[in-house]
Amino acid sequence: MDVGFVERIKKLKQERDAVIVAHMYQNDDVQAVADMVGDSFALSKYCTGRKEKTIVFCGVDFMAESAKILSPEKTVLIPVLDAGCPMADMITAEQLIEFKKQYPGYAVATYINSSAAVKAESDVIVTSSNALKVIRGMEEKNIIFGPDRNLGSFIAKQCPEKNIVLWNGFCPTHHKIKKEDVIKIKETYPNAELLVHPECTPDVTGLADYAGSTKGIIDYAAASNSKEFIIGTEIGVMYQLKKNNPDKKFYIMSDELICPNMKKTTLESIADCLEKGEHEISVPADVSEKAKKALDRMLELGK
Ligand code: 13P
Ligand code: SF4
Repeated sequence: MDVGFVERIKKLKQERDAVIVAHMYQNDDVQAVADMVGDSFALSKYCTGRKEKTIVFCGVDFMAESAKILSPEKTVLIPVLDAGCPMADMITAEQLIEFKKQYPGYAVATYINSSAAVKAESDVIVTSSNALKVIRGMEEKNIIFGPDRNLGSFIAKQCPEKNIVLWNGFCPTHHKIKKEDVIKIKETYPNAELLVHPECTPDVTGLADYAGSTKGIIDYAAASNSKEFIIGTEIGVMYQLKKNNPDKKFYIMSDELICPNMKKTTLESIADCLEKGEHEISVPADVSEKAKKALDRMLELGK
């Protein structure tokens, strides 16, 4: 790790009265300088209760936007402006409006991996860690779910009482995990438990011992009596898994499980972001107000 950057970040953080948060898919050195590392749900909640004026969000744009919507009085900075999420880009607000017309009376539950404009057209937001609880807690039976068809079908299977229509989005990183490769690696490590993210395809989650959010995977590994685990999500989670469980072995499904956008943030970009006050996230007031209602409903139902 570059100690020069770490020292510069510490000093600038104080000067700017900032807190640094990082998603678990961030580079190891970025996770190491963060005040809080978590999944998208934990980070969005953590940011709402902070006393610091500024939040430096090391993640992708929809996460920083969500933090800004939930804490409009804060300055939210993202170190790399073009760190986006291809899955979130698979649905626009205009497309959702058109889709809703095909399903009158349906409520819209949207994955947090979506733009602020899409959230504003939604009734409730979910993350991978609270989706089941939120959807079960909704009074509506008929639900449109997007953009991730995999998380949507994972939830739909567990909620037979709901009628869920799926948007056809997916995560290109999690789609790299193929059922045949899972079968092979399970043969190589027969004593290992398979832990995957619900963004994986149903034939992969169907083989898993546990499917859940990045934090869910980390908590499961810590609590399990098993000593070996095969990990089916972005490679960044390996940092926390190894750090928290030095006596356990973790095998990543493939070294190619990399979200390129998550890896754009570097220590240098964090230092620059703090020094220059760039790049500030802003969300138009009308969009923010509507999106906040959907996020607040998530916080209420996900309690
Ligand atoms: P989490 O909700 O587990 O943080 O996942 C977010 C994400 O982008 C997964 O690809
Ligand atoms: Fe988006 Fe997939 Fe990257 Fe998560 S891992 S931020 S869903 S592209």
